[in-house]
Amino acid sequence: MKNDDMKTIVADGYDRIADDYLGRFGQSSVRDAKLAEVLEKLPASAMVLDLGCGAGEPAARELVAHDFQVTGVDASLGQIMRARQNVPKANFVHADMTAVQFPAEGFDAVTAFYSITHVPRNEHEALIRRIATWLRPNGVLVASFGSSEGDWLGQWLGTPMFFSHLDPDETKRLVNDAGFRLEQAELLKQDNEDATFLWIAARKS
Ligand SMILES: C[S@@+](CC[C@H](N)C(=O)[O-])C[C@H]1O[C@@H](n2cnc3c(N)ncnc32)[C@H](O)[C@@H]1O
Repeated sequence: MKNDDMKTIVADGYDRIADDYLGRFGQSSVRDAKLAEVLEKLPASAMVLDLGCGAGEPAARELVAHDFQVTGVDASLGQIMRARQNVPKANFVHADMTAVQFPAEGFDAVTAFYSITHVPRNEHEALIRRIATWLRPNGVLVASFGSSEGDWLGQWLGTPMFFSHLDPDETKRLVNDAGFRLEQAELLKQDNEDATFLWIAARKS
């Protein structure tokens, strides 16, 4: 299957399972800790781009509550409609994160919680490079990636779903090569499922 087919499977899937996803995975102490780290790194009134924002919970809601200016992007219209209801003070864009356009150096931080793991892995390099262009110098990237290389296509929460991961060392290399300074790279087991992700915190050089 082509990458576009995989992306359609993912977006259509989240249209179907948006509420079930939030019910099952809306709480995570791992994501809460990473979100807290993001909050500590940001200057007042920072502009934050949340890629794969889902229903705006909890990331966009929490960032707005701390007076940051938040733009969320999601490929699922169902997720974006929920996010607009849940977090009216944020700006939400219905788009594929690998194709959406933003001005250069328009954001202080980019977050991506459990979302790049749905992007076909042969597009990760270009995506990370695009993220670097959207960030101001010294801007922050905090994102989760897969912990072992491979693709997975199957039934997940009752709908067809696709996941795609690079080897963690390859992800770290791509982040470095895109012009980031790696501040943290750690493999963390989820508290709410039997899964481990690579968490990256990096600053644009
Ligand atoms: C596992 S959910 C994570 C939602 C939220 N970030 C969280 O922490 O719970 C993944 C989200 O990424 C979105 N997504 C997946 N691929 C995407 C893409 N190429 N562009 C934009 N959003 C995408 C999905 O629609 C879904 O809402």
